[in-house]
Amino acid sequence: MPKAKRVFVCQSCGSVHPRWTGKCPDCGTWDALEEAPFDPAAERDPQKGLVAVWADFSEGAPSASATPAQPFTKIDAFDTPGQRLSSSIREFDRVLGGGLVPGSSVMIGGEPGIGKSTLLLQAAFAWASCREAKVLYVSSEESAAQIKLRADRLVGSSPPHADRVFILADTNLARVVEQVRKVQPAVLVIDSVQMLYKSDLPASPGSLTQLRRCVAELVYLAKASGIAVVLVGHVTKDGVLAGPRLLEHLVDVVLAFEGDRYHAHRVVRAVKNRFGTTLEIGLFEMTGVGLKEVSEGAGMTAAMGADAPRPGSVVCPLIAGTRAILVEVQALTATGFPGNAKRKCSGLDPNRLAMLIAVLEQHAGLRLFDRDVFASAVGGIRAGEPAADLALLLAIAGAELRKALPRATAAAGEVGLGGEVRSVRHAEQRLREAARLGFTSILVPSHDSLPAIPGLTPVRVRTIHDAIEHLTEAPATR
Ligand code: TYD
Ligand code: MG
Repeated sequence: MPKAKRVFVCQSCGSVHPRWTGKCPDCGTWDALEEAPFDPAAERDPQKGLVAVWADFSEGAPSASATPAQPFTKIDAFDTPGQRLSSSIREFDRVLGGGLVPGSSVMIGGEPGIGKSTLLLQAAFAWASCREAKVLYVSSEESAAQIKLRADRLVGSSPPHADRVFILADTNLARVVEQVRKVQPAVLVIDSVQMLYKSDLPASPGSLTQLRRCVAELVYLAKASGIAVVLVGHVTKDGVLAGPRLLEHLVDVVLAFEGDRYHAHRVVRAVKNRFGTTLEIGLFEMTGVGLKEVSEGAGMTAAMGADAPRPGSVVCPLIAGTRAILVEVQALTATGFPGNAKRKCSGLDPNRLAMLIAVLEQHAGLRLFDRDVFASAVGGIRAGEPAADLALLLAIAGAELRKALPRATAAAGEVGLGGEVRSVRHAEQRLREAARLGFTSILVPSHDSLPAIPGLTPVRVRTIHDAIEHLTEAPATR
């Protein structure tokens, strides 16, 4: 009997190699190649097995070899206006680019316990009430009774249109597809895709081979039938989707569910979106009755309201996609070792932090070489924009000098290496959002031409010197 041919598959990028190496030649990951049996049929026709799924859904579906080329004008696009399925969860629709496109495949990744199942169960009921759409929610981790219990808490025991939501607890792809054929849903949710398996594959459930085949078949099913497929994927310890590159290129939309599971705030971010921008983010808060939308960053900023201004805390309006969000930037300085001072940040760019510390030393005369500097953007939002420079710089200076900006004062501006404050884009939109949320003045670059906004006084600063002069002695806090 001839010896069965074997190949080595990278568990990170999915590339196939004839022999084992310590480091994947394609993606550079160490110790990621694993031995797998060679499948000559799959080699000859990668769509083997997919055609069967395809054929069941499209009437008179052609075989894979005979798919004719179509004239451009005859192609039926699923994404015509009004066809998108709205979930009426505005923050979720916003990241999807305006709703779920029929026939698309969406992957949602996030750490365990972050709230993926909660969001999708809430969305399932919302989709069901949108244009009489049926939703099939397949759970491979929880039993139907567990899901019912959770749904009771999230949407009440008798939500409207609950008869259009179908729950299936199964992990076998063939049985799932069978139920899809019976129910004919508009949306299919798979929670989670890592647990799915195809029994005719020699690989074990959870392996990359299984994952790749299951996702590929579900994507084909979506394309052939017009069903929108939403897949939940777990992320590894490093925060990347398991088999990231592999799954990312298969699906149309990749969303990342981020946030700290010990805090209530959650951010849904588009990593890839074939139907919209990847700049949009959706903001949520985890409550006792599921995820609640947060339409503005204001709820996240403890620096607002009637609080006395705190040294080391400055609010900055940032642009995320099409809207402005207020983000609180905080800094703390502490005694460190000369030459070995710590500079740590979360939600901010560490390179900009290092640069701003240097600018403060050089142009504002602050001595920070033996000070540990810690900085963070509050509320799980990433403030990587250059427009957050001025707020971060004032937060560090304020923390060091024990001074704060006056009450209800924000700051927006990029800081140059010469200590100058440079203009920012979308200045008007930022100012309007700050005014709307009760800020009465804002430090802005001196060159920006700005319209008058009622209730908000722009304070023009040319250099960081001008800006630091606006920091005033804060009352001692305990
Ligand atoms: P879950 O959606 O199961 O997370 P994932 O599917 O991403 O693993 O739940 C996340 C956490 O949210 C869970 O630990 C409990 C909490 N939670 C609430 O605080 N309120 C709620 O109403 C629900 C349903 C969950
Ligand atoms: Mg879950």
